[in-house]
Amino acid sequence: MMAGQVPVSLEYSYLLPDVEPEELASWQPAVTLMHERLEGGTGPGSAFLGWLDPAAIMPAEQLAAIQATAARLREATEVMVVVGIGGSYLGARAVIEALAAPGGPTVLYAGQTLSAEYTDWLLTYLKDKRFCINVVSKSGTTTEPAVAFRLLRDLLRRQAGAEANERIIATTDPDRGALRGVATKEGYQTFPIPANVGGRYSVFTAVGLLPIAYAGVDAAALLDGATACAAACRTPDLAKNPAYVYAAARNLLYRKGKSIELLATFEPRLHYLAEWWKQLYGESEGKRQMGIFPASVEFTTDLHSMGQWIQEGRRDIFETFVTIAGGQPAVMIPGDPDDADGLNFLAGKKSVDDVNRRACAGTILAHRQGGVPSMTITLPALAPRPLGALLYCFEKACGVSGYLLGVNPFDQPGVEQYKTNMFALMHKPGFETESAAVLAAVQERQGKHVVTF
Ligand code: PA5
Repeated sequence: MMAGQVPVSLEYSYLLPDVEPEELASWQPAVTLMHERLEGGTGPGSAFLGWLDPAAIMPAEQLAAIQATAARLREATEVMVVVGIGGSYLGARAVIEALAAPGGPTVLYAGQTLSAEYTDWLLTYLKDKRFCINVVSKSGTTTEPAVAFRLLRDLLRRQAGAEANERIIATTDPDRGALRGVATKEGYQTFPIPANVGGRYSVFTAVGLLPIAYAGVDAAALLDGATACAAACRTPDLAKNPAYVYAAARNLLYRKGKSIELLATFEPRLHYLAEWWKQLYGESEGKRQMGIFPASVEFTTDLHSMGQWIQEGRRDIFETFVTIAGGQPAVMIPGDPDDADGLNFLAGKKSVDDVNRRACAGTILAHRQGGVPSMTITLPALAPRPLGALLYCFEKACGVSGYLLGVNPFDQPGVEQYKTNMFALMHKPGFETESAAVLAAVQERQGKHVVTF
């Protein structure tokens, strides 16, 4: 960390009494073993460890090319549509929604849904906009983005004619896959998704950084935060490595019956950080009938919907709070001569953020009093460097956490089942065998027990 920079912190005092510090420390031998597997590339999924070194997967010349492309596209267009699903869009969206300044270029998303309503809205919205497309798919065959890309490319061709291809950037496998083939044939500019980086670990590749740079967010500072965190998280020492404290603590809690983790924020701009985190942990750990269920809540909003359950419901949850220490706008509470709501004691003295902070401290304490252990990660400010560090810390923790759980955190075999069923039901060529079986299985159940209203 550079002099004068305030660090990101992970506080785990509120794990007590569920987890004693000595108990956590006793996991050091297991953590050391998993650390060696991860860093030495001897554990499951070792072909997908490129993300461990963010500086290596994003060399300076590629970052410069990304920034130059983002600047070119910003000059030529007012909207970028990121076409991708899962790990191919959530990292970019998490960062952009957290950090992009209002009034900058717009980034919209497609291919993350098959909703006709949304697709129709998007195509209508884009009709009179100068837009570009960043199509992101490692395999190039994922149905959702493939469908959206066809539609958007057709619209762009009608709007921009010969210029259309200059406004399409493909981020995909460097050598293989359907999208690589299309990009080569059409002459699209491309950026690589390294073969050794899976989708949900790809935010520090062009997958994340091109849309992030287009949105006007400092991609270099984000990457710098990740690189600094990678250095800090290279020690096997549990007492010094925040990623390993987090990984060990959540596995300890899981073994004590805490099977649901809530990522809790007090900042709506972190909504997609939680969505990214849910995919990272859900897809990495939910295997072999095991894994913590990752869920999220946005406070104080959800204190008025989920708060009761968290305070007094079934005690199988723990919370990880992500809070922001400073840099929030100073929106002061105004005075009111009637003081009907009794808030004049705050008027002119406290800001909305001061109240939010007290709500946060009060909530962490209340939930602990109600039997919910928690950890709190605090960013010094909502800024690229600390956010980059946080994203990397979660990635590193996820690798070790998955190993501690006993699963391969870098594959996602369970995602295939719905695709097989969907293709079989659409009679996609090659799915003839599955088609009859899936159709029969659906017919056997569908419509048998229904109540209408
Ligand atoms: O994390 C993952 O690997 C997945 O979420 C993928 O990113 C997602 O399924 C999209 O795959 P693709 O990039 O091949 O279209």
